[in-house]
Amino acid sequence: SGRRGDSGRRGEVDAVKVLVIGAGAREHALVTALAADPVVDAVIAAPGNPGMAAIALCEPVEATDAAAVTALAARHAVDLVVIGPEAPLVAGVADAVREAGIACYGPSAEAARLEGSKSFAKEVMAAADVPTGMGRLCTSIEEVAEALDAFGAPHVVKDDGLAAGKGVVVTDEREAALEHARACLDKEGGAVVIEEFLDGPEVSLFVVSDGHTVVPLTPAQDFKRVFDGDEGPNTGGMGAYSPLPWAAPDLVDEVVRRVAQPTITEMALRGTPFVGTLFIGLALTSRGPRVIEFNARFGDPETQVVLARLLSPLGGLLYAAATGTLEQVPRLRWSDEAAVTVVIAAENYPGTPRTGDVIEGLDVVEEVPGAYVLHAGTRFGEDGTIVSAGGRVLSVVGRGADLAQARERAYAAVGRITLDGSHHRADIALQAVRGEVSVAGSV
Ligand code: AMP
Ligand code: GLY
Repeated sequence: SGRRGDSGRRGEVDAVKVLVIGAGAREHALVTALAADPVVDAVIAAPGNPGMAAIALCEPVEATDAAAVTALAARHAVDLVVIGPEAPLVAGVADAVREAGIACYGPSAEAARLEGSKSFAKEVMAAADVPTGMGRLCTSIEEVAEALDAFGAPHVVKDDGLAAGKGVVVTDEREAALEHARACLDKEGGAVVIEEFLDGPEVSLFVVSDGHTVVPLTPAQDFKRVFDGDEGPNTGGMGAYSPLPWAAPDLVDEVVRRVAQPTITEMALRGTPFVGTLFIGLALTSRGPRVIEFNARFGDPETQVVLARLLSPLGGLLYAAATGTLEQVPRLRWSDEAAVTVVIAAENYPGTPRTGDVIEGLDVVEEVPGAYVLHAGTRFGEDGTIVSAGGRVLSVVGRGADLAQARERAYAAVGRITLDGSHHRADIALQAVRGEVSVAGSV
């Protein structure tokens, strides 16, 4: 398997066996899309979850253990490893897999610094002339205080290192900003980035890259705060939708031209080509799109709605990226349908979540047309039950002719599921459906 078709063009393959690393709803969405690609003849997930177990072989491997992941890939003779989360990327798992001669979709540890270090990302953006907010790297509380005063409120304080989406505090209160900065600085080698506040709706755009060529996916919007109306602390993401009916038609082209291609080119020039998903988090300000952050992987839960709308086969795309042949991939096709996902979270998430509760209703969700469930923090309980095992437990997806219908279906499906103590946002995609999202200064 994995060979190039004798009669096919370069970069085409007959049959690929894929190993997906990760255990969340993002990986469940990836496994689902890969399994649906005729070129993919087997999918293995490690460690996976009960949702993935229904369509793929799950192997109990620690995602950040490079030697174990490489050994597993070799044992199953996979043609491609797809790495979902950031932790294994930053830990160098992609490097280890490639060193073993196996194609890998996911950046090297060096390239993953675009996510792993906020200050490195800022440095690359400056070198590539990518539009972003002003920021200052601070290693002492005195520097922080000075930067906070220079930029003024609202204050944006970011842990320089990886923090699972929870390292950022945006606040009007100087004391709260200082307190978060202190907590970050207290860590070994701690540093924080103080940033200018960027106003405007946020967009997540994923681009697939082989290190040189860039293929954009369709944009989505994420809901980071835990409560309705964007209240409460940041989470990994409580829901998402796509497409963005309010976005400018040339948004994707503009972001590829001004952000994605210059960044990918800069990384290649530095000798650390970025192979994988460059996740561009943008604020659409009155002065145009500005990068809020880069991630080195697919976003969760945005991936759940982006892949729900992808008509082109995913396996061929990721294999081409991993083997440097993205230029030959035909233009991606997208469904006109809309997709909305709502995350069902365990009690107390994003704090320490309550776990071990039985989830009911999973078997009746698909009675709702266009709806299905992706598993995140779940595990098998006794007597064939499925129980909660993490903060974000499920990602419920609804597809429909437009956002309103997709949204109705997602919430109808959420209503069929019971999990003691769980919570979810009730306003995912609501403003978009009502036509209440707009970019300042645009018509
Ligand atoms: P990050 O981890 O950098 O994506 O930040 C998490 C969230 O904090 C973002 O999705 C934004 O909602 C918010 N945020 C981060 N940086 C800024 C900024 N410079 N201006 C406004 N909001 C920001
Ligand atoms: N949903 C944002 C992230 O994956 O970081």
